[in-house]
Amino acid sequence: MNSEQAKIEILRLTKLINHHNHLYYVESSSEISDFEFDALLRELQVLENKFPDYAYSNSPTKRVGGDLTKKFDTVVHRYPMLSLSNSYSEEDIIEWENRIKKLIDGQIEFVCELKYDGVAIGIRYENGQLSQAVTRGDGEKGEDVTANVRTIRTIPLSLVGNFPKDFEIRGEIFMPIAVFEKLNSQRAEEGEQLFANPRNTASGTLKMQDSKVVATRCLDSYLYGIYGEELSAEGHFESVEKTASWGFKSPSIKDRFIEKTNSIEGVMNFIHYWEEKRFSLPFEIDGVVIKVNSFGQQIELGFTAKSPRWAIAYKFKANRVETTLLSVDYQVGRTGAVTPVANLNPVQLGGTTVKRASLHNQDQIKKLDLHIGDVVYVEKGGEIIPKIVGVNTGQRKSHLRKIIFPLTCPACESLLHRKDGEAGHFCTNYRGCPPQVKGKIDHFVSRKALNIEGLGEETVDLLFENNLVKNVADIYRLSFDQLMKLDRMADKSVNNLLMNIQNSKNIPFERVLFGLGIRFVGETVAKKLAKHFGSIDKLIEASYDELIDVDEIGEKIAKSLIEYFSDSLSKELISELKMFNLQLETSKLVNFEGVLSGKTIVVSGTFSAFSRDEMKELIEQNGGRNGSSISSKTDFLVAGENMGPSKLKKAVDLELEILSEDEFIKLLKKKF
Ligand code: IVH
Repeated sequence: MNSEQAKIEILRLTKLINHHNHLYYVESSSEISDFEFDALLRELQVLENKFPDYAYSNSPTKRVGGDLTKKFDTVVHRYPMLSLSNSYSEEDIIEWENRIKKLIDGQIEFVCELKYDGVAIGIRYENGQLSQAVTRGDGEKGEDVTANVRTIRTIPLSLVGNFPKDFEIRGEIFMPIAVFEKLNSQRAEEGEQLFANPRNTASGTLKMQDSKVVATRCLDSYLYGIYGEELSAEGHFESVEKTASWGFKSPSIKDRFIEKTNSIEGVMNFIHYWEEKRFSLPFEIDGVVIKVNSFGQQIELGFTAKSPRWAIAYKFKANRVETTLLSVDYQVGRTGAVTPVANLNPVQLGGTTVKRASLHNQDQIKKLDLHIGDVVYVEKGGEIIPKIVGVNTGQRKSHLRKIIFPLTCPACESLLHRKDGEAGHFCTNYRGCPPQVKGKIDHFVSRKALNIEGLGEETVDLLFENNLVKNVADIYRLSFDQLMKLDRMADKSVNNLLMNIQNSKNIPFERVLFGLGIRFVGETVAKKLAKHFGSIDKLIEASYDELIDVDEIGEKIAKSLIEYFSDSLSKELISELKMFNLQLETSKLVNFEGVLSGKTIVVSGTFSAFSRDEMKELIEQNGGRNGSSISSKTDFLVAGENMGPSKLKKAVDLELEILSEDEFIKLLKKKF
């Protein structure tokens, strides 16, 4: 490709990827698979590396984050970033309406919005390109966090449609609750200090020096106001609608994230609705914001020193209640981590009855100085499990007993162990402690690991109680007769389960490695290790230095791997899995003689050992081509479950060869 062609191709790919990004992250739909998307991104990256002069500074390849920033520049806001005046009751809102009614004539339209609990951001776009993103700071000047904001997928890097030439859009950056919870459970697992709430975590993340780390934190945003010289909208509501047409994720009208009303009753209705429904949102809000819609009226109303007169925040009451701490249970997870959970006197909080609260670890108990029988403050953020945030010491009775963290495992009575520098306690009876054994099996059979359908938690419990499984290799020893003896098992379900167990032997190495449940070896790390070492044997042989040499494998992971593989029971388990023919090396399904070369193959339906994208990748790795639809050019069809009847009929009409998942895998293994 010459440089002129490269320039055109880079532009084409950049636009195409931006389009798919918008569809996926803003409109929650997609026209292509993740696999195809990644392929486009890789193609663009290759071209950009070859022809760096033509790469756009706002290229979608930059979303993964880049070099360290060291420190943030200070930027003076072109329009000061004010805050809102707060109100806490319906009377406050009515007073506000009375005040503004006196200042302007005519009908007032209100816009009600959610008050996102995150960090305020101002993002400037020049000629449709994101040029700068600045935090609120002291309202006059903030910090330039452009590199970090670029990693947020819902914020467009380039705009589409009829946008103003130079404007600033403001909004809130936040961390979705699910992301926050996942991050904290990882940190708990790693014995690290937990983050307090999604808001602080979002704020801390946005100020991180390394935008690569920011990119992994999955921040999100909602944008709620534009500022500039030539904005053509009449009012706030219309301007927000317009931003959607330029590619921004604007609040959904359908879901009532934003609403226009011309009466204060409408405002109250919105407030009541969200006061009740706030916990069903995937992100935290701390109130609603009411704004006067008309820009003309906004100008008339103007500002006080700190905030606009045309807007007011209605803050929800803190979701804090008092109740008594009855007792503490200790739960043992699959890695042996022991988590204290408080049992509370049931209390109503945010629309649900709360009976339990997480206490995370011993340090947390110490910090709160908890005693059984204490009157505690319980708060509910968006998290599923509420938190104990403090003790009402004024109400502490004198005879109460301090909580003492147990010395032995509540499930198997082995001594608990606390590693140096870590906050968590672990039961080290990894192979014999029932919740650990069962948890490890549950993890091994889970969808992202060996994907053995029919082995839910209850069945694993039954198998364990009947002494049929004590480790994951035992799954492959199960017989028809043994399974039939279990409660609620019939011919059909047993046969299905045995078939699913059999099929799991085709699951690629990286997922088997993930399934082993080695501490700190999540999906991504397992993928990296599998790719780098190629087989479990090479991984077992790897020294500490060889391990930390691998990109993104740090001390913690390396130590954990060495510890795992130096245990003779782990080695025994792995030889057993080998004996049962599980995939313990990467390339087994890549047939170097290219059985599929020159062939066009269509895959359809769902498969048990692979996702559809993995199937397609396998076809390419073996020299085949993926056809998008069935035609006379198709060589054969790989039919999974639930494939569409019309596709099947077409294949039959064309007399195509149709292979099942198993037959297809056998074909790949044929000349190996
Ligand atoms: S409008 C002139 N709308 O709440 C102030 N703010 O003190 C314009 N916030 O710092 C702000 N959701 O970060 C507005 N829908 C919303 C909001 C919102 C959250 C934040 C914003 C501001 C703080 C108010």
